[in-house]
Amino acid sequence: MKDSECVNFLQWALPHLQMRWAGFRKVRGQVCKRIQRRLQALGLADVHAYRERLAQDPGEWSVVDAFCRISISRFCRDRQVFDALGRLVFPELLALARVRREHRVHCWNVGAAGGEEAYSLVLVWSFAVAPQYPGMDLTVHGSEVDDHQIARAQAACYGRSSLKELPEAWRLEAFAREGDLFRLHAKYREPVLFLRQDLREEAPKREYHLVLCRNLAFTYFDEMLQHAVCRRLAAHTLPGGILVLGSHEKLPPGATGFRPWSRPMGIYRRVPASETG
Ligand SMILES: C[S@@+](CC[C@H](N)C(=O)[O-])C[C@H]1O[C@@H](n2cnc3c(N)ncnc32)[C@H](O)[C@@H]1O
Repeated sequence: MKDSECVNFLQWALPHLQMRWAGFRKVRGQVCKRIQRRLQALGLADVHAYRERLAQDPGEWSVVDAFCRISISRFCRDRQVFDALGRLVFPELLALARVRREHRVHCWNVGAAGGEEAYSLVLVWSFAVAPQYPGMDLTVHGSEVDDHQIARAQAACYGRSSLKELPEAWRLEAFAREGDLFRLHAKYREPVLFLRQDLREEAPKREYHLVLCRNLAFTYFDEMLQHAVCRRLAAHTLPGGILVLGSHEKLPPGATGFRPWSRPMGIYRRVPASETG
């Protein structure tokens, strides 16, 4: 299949799934490979035949939807964001937790992929925050739609490239070497619970001090779905709590419930409904 054929197909198919082409432009290669394999498996000649198939068999859309999951991640991706979490954000959230007479900071990591981001929170907490705040704990809920990613997250075993932004001292302390791989020690896995959830339809039950929704909704979803997600995130972030997006992401125009906290890093603060327009 030519790149231009796949691009045409994606530009047609993505709006059906409430996704946007702009988010996929750079990463389309892996989606196109999956579509190509699907054409072969179904014995179809080209994407035109696949479009006909989708018209006849609407259940096939869930296959296309799964093809559009991009699972790139790594530990402390955009290191300056995780530095800011350790130095500035966690101390604020600890103050918020104390006002609420809580001894635990609750985090929600949306689109947890193979667990890299959820475990990065634990490592920042363990090495950069917890020693100064005895008696306080951390819990992370990592939600993810893809079963394969959840299995990877639970295995907590990574190649070196996943760890390249992690301080070396942390890597040596937190991982056991297994051949070419690095397995996270159990004590750093314990604060994390992975949940199989589709952000478009569900969220965990509680409200969180810290929500990370990075390189998912605000890259790949269309604007209407972004607004719906934004409302869902606001409903699950405590007033005064913090929302972190990907470094190249921002909330859609007119989104309410959050105010920028640090623009270049995509960090927002949850404000009460009475304070937003
Ligand atoms: C590009 S990765 C980002 C991982 C991590 N947040 C980061 O920034 O490094 C996006 C992840 O979101 C997951 N995902 C895609 N659609 C989702 C949905 N509707 N609900 C929950 N997770 C989803 C994908 O399976 C993938 O693992």
